[in-house]
Amino acid sequence: MEKTIAVLPGDGIGKEVTESALKVLQAIGRRYNHRYHVNTGLIGGDAIDQKGHPLPQDTIDLCENSDAILLGAVGGLKWDQNPSHLRPEKGLLAIRKHFDLFANLRPVKAIPGIISASPLKEDVVKSVDMMIVRELTGGLYFGEPKRKTDNGAVDTLVYSREEIERIVEKAFELARLRRGKVTSVDKANVLESSKLWREVVEQKKLKYPDVELDHLLVDAAAMKLITNPSMFDVVVTENLFGDILSDEASVITGSLGMLPSASIRADGFGLYEPVHGSAPDIAGKGLANPAAAILSVAMMLKYSFGMETEASSIEEAVFSVYEDGYCTSDMKQDGYRVLSTSEFTEKVIEELERESVSD
Ligand code: NAD
Ligand code: IPM
Ligand code: MN
Repeated sequence: MEKTIAVLPGDGIGKEVTESALKVLQAIGRRYNHRYHVNTGLIGGDAIDQKGHPLPQDTIDLCENSDAILLGAVGGLKWDQNPSHLRPEKGLLAIRKHFDLFANLRPVKAIPGIISASPLKEDVVKSVDMMIVRELTGGLYFGEPKRKTDNGAVDTLVYSREEIERIVEKAFELARLRRGKVTSVDKANVLESSKLWREVVEQKKLKYPDVELDHLLVDAAAMKLITNPSMFDVVVTENLFGDILSDEASVITGSLGMLPSASIRADGFGLYEPVHGSAPDIAGKGLANPAAAILSVAMMLKYSFGMETEASSIEEAVFSVYEDGYCTSDMKQDGYRVLSTSEFTEKVIEELERESVSD
């Protein structure tokens, strides 16, 4: 198969982990005889510096002409004092909105080869396998009015019924392919938008009698995520709650550097990126964990290209590196050898090549 991929490395460790992800993509291409054409574009801080805009028109055109988008991360201290429209994060929000990427899938799994990297007890995390389904193009991030003066500021949490319906439907569909359980997270004891959210979830449930449903308030959900994470299969929630809960859930794996994501439109077109940011504290040092970016490539192969076998190969290769006793410094453990970003990537590629010899 031939596919064209728009690659937007962005800022900080975004560039480092994207380089790793692309090496793994090309290794998959060699192994399974696919051709992946890669076109690189600007987004975020670099785009502001070079083009005066966090999401230049050239980048949108590049993505329009691709089969999928692979993104690193955006942001950095250099741009933190910029006005809102000239912040790197604005580029990310704009690309999500432009392509209507409303369904953000964030899988969280305990990694068998390195369970001990989690600060939580092994018994608590060992059987965790959940999918956080975060609404990505609505809510507080985009609602109007949104403005700040010296004396006050406003953000607006607004959802239409239709916006809620499509993400909830996605969650029920995904649950059917998994263990058949949806947990909807809201704040229906306080927020009007959450009352509508809960109503829509209840209504959609009628179409999915085979799927088990429960509701949790977001504050309690934050607690359960740490005390009893294996109770979750699919978690569906609005934009900001999903943002916060997914970083929290990364603790189950041991590092934010482990979580990949897919942001998908109704027709399957998608953007794939790690959940983490540009990590200015470790950027440029070869310390970044590339697993989240590499696993995001696996999600791209699975969700946009239907290449399930190829996607599983990547996952298995990453997991094997941990089983062989290697990790990056964020996952540092007694008995494991700490590798740099590029050394870890080479190990993943060696595993992929080894798998292919044993086929
Ligand atoms: P962050 O996710 O960049 O980093 C949080 C912590 O996790 C840091 O200590 C960092 O070193 C660590 N970390 C993150 N990814 C890692 C990896 N792959 N390997 C090892 N350690 C890793 O969040 P932050 O520091 O709050 O934000 C930094 C910048 O990134 C901000 O400008 C923020 O807006 C931006 N950001 C961008 C995205 C994105 O592009 N999707 C996501 C989150 C934050
Ligand atoms: C994420 C990030 C973004 C978000 C920021 C950088 C705009 O935190 O992808 O999780 O809040 O969605
Ligand atoms: Mn986030």
